[in-house]
Amino acid sequence: MLFHKKASEIKVDDRLSHIAFIMDGNGRWAKKRSLPRKAGHKQGAVAFENVVRECNKLGIKTVTVYAFSTENWKRPKEEVDAIIGLLNSYIDKVDKSKDIRFIFLGNKSVLDDGLRNKMESLERETLNCSNILNIAFNYGGRSEIVNAFNELAREGKTDIDENDISTHLYTRASKDPDLIVRTANECRISNFLLWQCAYSEFYFTDTLWPDFDKKELYKAIESFYSRKRNFGGIK
Ligand code: FPP
Repeated sequence: MLFHKKASEIKVDDRLSHIAFIMDGNGRWAKKRSLPRKAGHKQGAVAFENVVRECNKLGIKTVTVYAFSTENWKRPKEEVDAIIGLLNSYIDKVDKSKDIRFIFLGNKSVLDDGLRNKMESLERETLNCSNILNIAFNYGGRSEIVNAFNELAREGKTDIDENDISTHLYTRASKDPDLIVRTANECRISNFLLWQCAYSEFYFTDTLWPDFDKKELYKAIESFYSRKRNFGGIK
């Protein structure tokens, strides 16, 4: 049986340079413990920090997380405020010596000035780092594509090709994800990286996001390396 590897046995190469996570199951994690949903998000933020650290140790150059979708505003205000609060406190304690470039994917214009300024400063201050952490916040894949077309229209661009679109997405600094992981037993894309996932591998697990630890990450990576990727061609 696979999945007994230790950290030292997990090797990542250029085939896995970008991994993305749909961090699902925070609410269920909290419910199982009779805790408020925001307690699940708090634990989810801990898991997020651990997973990002581990990906960085493994040499994965780009990590993307889906932290808040354009649809998540429909949730109760208390829950929305809790998630925004977690992002705020995370930004406050970011260690900028880690060679990680922070990029926020999504529409920042509706966020409050304080948070937006913090996000933009962090993006500016880490601009020259070589690894990337994309945090999708107030993000939706369809609106990202619409936004790209509107930018192209404003530039007067005609005869649009795939490269034009890719270079006008929020993810323009990253190559497409090699692997997309979704936790909590849900097998759908939920408006995440719709353009970029064309050739991504998917990994779904029952594990709830707050329980997603380095062992779970290794399982996802092992699964990725067990697959053949032909990108539509033949080997
Ligand atoms: C989905 O689980 C999760 C979210 C909508 C929020 C994810 C946010 C975090 C993990 C915190 C991120 C923090 C930072 C610092 C970026 P759900 O609530 O829909 O779970 P459920 O399906 O079990 O209800």
